[in-house]
Amino acid sequence: MRHEIVEKNVGLLAVLILVVISFAGLAEIVPLFFQKQTTEPVEGLEPLSALELEGRDIYRREGCVGCHSQMIRPFRAETERYGHYSVAGESVYDHNFLWGSKRTGPDLARVGGRYSDDWHRAHMYNPRDVVPESVMPAYPWLFERTLDGQHTADKMRALRELGVPYSDEQIEGARSEVRGEQEITALIAYLQQLGTVLEGTR
Ligand code: HEC
Repeated sequence: MRHEIVEKNVGLLAVLILVVISFAGLAEIVPLFFQKQTTEPVEGLEPLSALELEGRDIYRREGCVGCHSQMIRPFRAETERYGHYSVAGESVYDHNFLWGSKRTGPDLARVGGRYSDDWHRAHMYNPRDVVPESVMPAYPWLFERTLDGQHTADKMRALRELGVPYSDEQIEGARSEVRGEQEITALIAYLQQLGTVLEGTR
């Protein structure tokens, strides 16, 4: 009898279907927030330095994520090319995540240490100078602009609110660490630490 009420009332049926589906969703999603594996940083993970953090913001500003993912999937084709697959504990200090999904260029999750700083400088100034067939844009303005570090400490304070363990000293020293540095230097500092924390990743 009661089932008939539901079957004859489309509005009620729709609402109840939604309730059932969201239960299924909750059962999958909520436990992830409490699972150690997804919320604990991997051993040795440190918050980005002031300079690396500014580099990360340049990476966001220039839209690198539109062509580069930072997420190595656990498939053989991926791990043989890029190294150990990405694990959640590597990203716990990332706000927002830059995992991306578009791969016009290669994944960058483990690009840290793969090339020298000089290679990156040449590549960012004009990718065709080092990779003739490259379709990556050139970023010459990163060599002209310098950082003033005016907001670096504020950014670190905001991240600390979100659980990134910056110390008072790091925050105090942020401005002097980045002031006067070229933007390209910050970006390369950011790239060179990507994926270097996990043991035996290469
Ligand atoms: C229009 C797409 C596009 C954009 C935007 C782009 N790239 Fe690339 N990137 C590529 C392609 C394609 C390659 C492969 C050819 C090459 O090495 O230049 C590449 C290669 C790279 C490599 C070498 C990776 C490796 O493992 O060999 C790095 C590092 C890199 N890009 C960094 C960046 C950064 C940092 C930015 C933002 C400032 C950026 N890219 C923006 C397309 C892009």
